[in-house]
Amino acid sequence: MIKVGIIGVGTVGTSVVNILKKSADVISARAGCNIVVKSGVVKNIAKDRGLDITITDNVDDILNDKEIDIVVELMGGVEEPFKVVKYALESGKAVVTANKALLAYHRYELQEIAKDIAFEFEASVAGGIPIINALRDGLSANHIESITGIMNGTCNYMMTKMTNEGVAYDVILKEAQDLGYAEADPTFDVGGYDTAHKLLILASIAYGIDTKPEDILIEGIENITQDDIAFAKEFGYAIKLLGIAKKDKSEVELRVHACLIKQDKMIAKIDGVMNGISVVGDKVGETLYYGPGAGGDATASAVVANIIDIARSGKSTPMLGFNRPMEGDTLTLKPSEDIESKYYLRINVSDKTGVLAKLTKIFETHNISIETILQRPSENERANLLISTHIAVEKDIQAMISELETLDFVHTKPMMIRVV
Ligand code: HSE
Repeated sequence: MIKVGIIGVGTVGTSVVNILKKSADVISARAGCNIVVKSGVVKNIAKDRGLDITITDNVDDILNDKEIDIVVELMGGVEEPFKVVKYALESGKAVVTANKALLAYHRYELQEIAKDIAFEFEASVAGGIPIINALRDGLSANHIESITGIMNGTCNYMMTKMTNEGVAYDVILKEAQDLGYAEADPTFDVGGYDTAHKLLILASIAYGIDTKPEDILIEGIENITQDDIAFAKEFGYAIKLLGIAKKDKSEVELRVHACLIKQDKMIAKIDGVMNGISVVGDKVGETLYYGPGAGGDATASAVVANIIDIARSGKSTPMLGFNRPMEGDTLTLKPSEDIESKYYLRINVSDKTGVLAKLTKIFETHNISIETILQRPSENERANLLISTHIAVEKDIQAMISELETLDFVHTKPMMIRVV
């Protein structure tokens, strides 16, 4: 029999307990042994969770319990869970976590500490989609060319509702929180940080690259308006928050930002709280993974799969997929200013003679070629110019936006969305 201790019995932890109990027939058959949750740690022991496990508010009750084989960490945060997981691994206990922020900062240290002890984290990226398993095991014969993912259910839910139903940003954010999709601090969702944490985990498995969130380009969906959505619809695009990892010779691009995607692309059709990740391998071509990225049972499905895997084998594949560094060129992070893309810009200008001529001159000065341009009237004798460009370099776009901001006929900071 395998005994499990859960640190953090919230929505996901409760689902883990229930799945292990209610699906014990199939789980024990697959694992080859019985798996039971012995105890769980919570902050508030007075609250009745209706679970028949020992409940404690002292993490040491699990960490120092010699009967517990697997510690499931579902506390959230970074430094506190790092201490807990480190202690568990050093005590010889296997660990399963769903904590993407912990891994975004400490995955390489944890890999060092874990060595031969199983440390699994399938639920940390895209909830119920087995993307870690696919990338680390199923695609291990491939050089990975790119990963493009919708990995935050909250943002995807919000963008879908704003697009399909015209619901206002604040209203729909509140709805996503009420439905339990959002992080405790929803700026992690809408600011792109949650997606970035997940992207860094996948990029380590794909490329062996060690980067922190602070190293990469991260933007959220906070400034997207109905004007941008109308433009997207008119030109046949969907707007999605994407995490992108792309190999370009010996460099890897890692970035998180809102994107305009042609509506006929598969990833553009992934709506609501669902997640979707496209992985392109040099041998297999494009593969696409779709499913629920948030929610108790969906996330617990991945946690329990890890528990079963550990119960089966005791030892998993190398945590981040590499047994030793790759031979040949080591990959480095591409500076974000060198990224090349098509761009969409929304610029609020005075609706006066000569403004458009002056503006297009500035585009020319910065070596940026306009592909389409649309003018929409706005209040106070102003207009919104909705402009898409041909491929340009990030540093040129940023320099042009900085110049535009200084002009007396430009009234708000120009909005920019990259086109993929
Ligand atoms: N807040 C996350 C989301 C939960 O909305 O996708 C899963 O990581």
